[in-house]
Amino acid sequence: MVLVSGSGTNLQALLDAAADEGYGARIVAVGADRDGIEGLARAERAGVPTFVERVPDHPSREEWDRALAARIAEHKPDLVVCAGFMKILGAPTLTSFPVLNTHPALLPSFPGAHGVRDALTYGVRITGCTVMLADAGVDTGPIIAQEAVRVFDGDDEHTLHERIKTVERGLLVDTVGRMAREGWTVTGRTVRLGRTAGLG
Ligand code: GRF
Repeated sequence: MVLVSGSGTNLQALLDAAADEGYGARIVAVGADRDGIEGLARAERAGVPTFVERVPDHPSREEWDRALAARIAEHKPDLVVCAGFMKILGAPTLTSFPVLNTHPALLPSFPGAHGVRDALTYGVRITGCTVMLADAGVDTGPIIAQEAVRVFDGDDEHTLHERIKTVERGLLVDTVGRMAREGWTVTGRTVRLGRTAGLG
């Protein structure tokens, strides 16, 4: 299942890939932390069940964490994919499901909500995107895959983010498909995809 907070173009890429049975993964549900976003509309158009769990509707962040984990559990997912989900997940979700996250920078550089802006402000000439397992930190989980994207003269946050997102969608689709078809193992901070994972 996929969690979103925004436009959901990464979600759309996953929905499109999953339309082919050979992809190996099915999107069983889409959850969000806010109403009225294009990500939810994309799921509805694809006939995928949706739910919204808003932090302000709960007395505390801990209550929200528990409620979100319960909503996710209803769909019995093998994997939870955060695709532009702008909340840090709490222990109830992180201890119950493997969670994948995607970030528009080459971690460990420029974590957090403004990775594209921060990379641009710093003046790097190469940035990119990272797909990783989520943990309790901000973009600190074990890295699964990364791809580089060049910064062009004259780029602003929007043009650079759009160019990163084109690459990010491909990387996310590729990684989720491989995880579904081939499995994965985690040893410390090392994630290996494939059935022969760990054999060299
Ligand atoms: C992606 O770049 C994601 O990494 C970042 O926000 C963007 C989400 O885009 N956190 P979309 O909602 O999938 O179009």
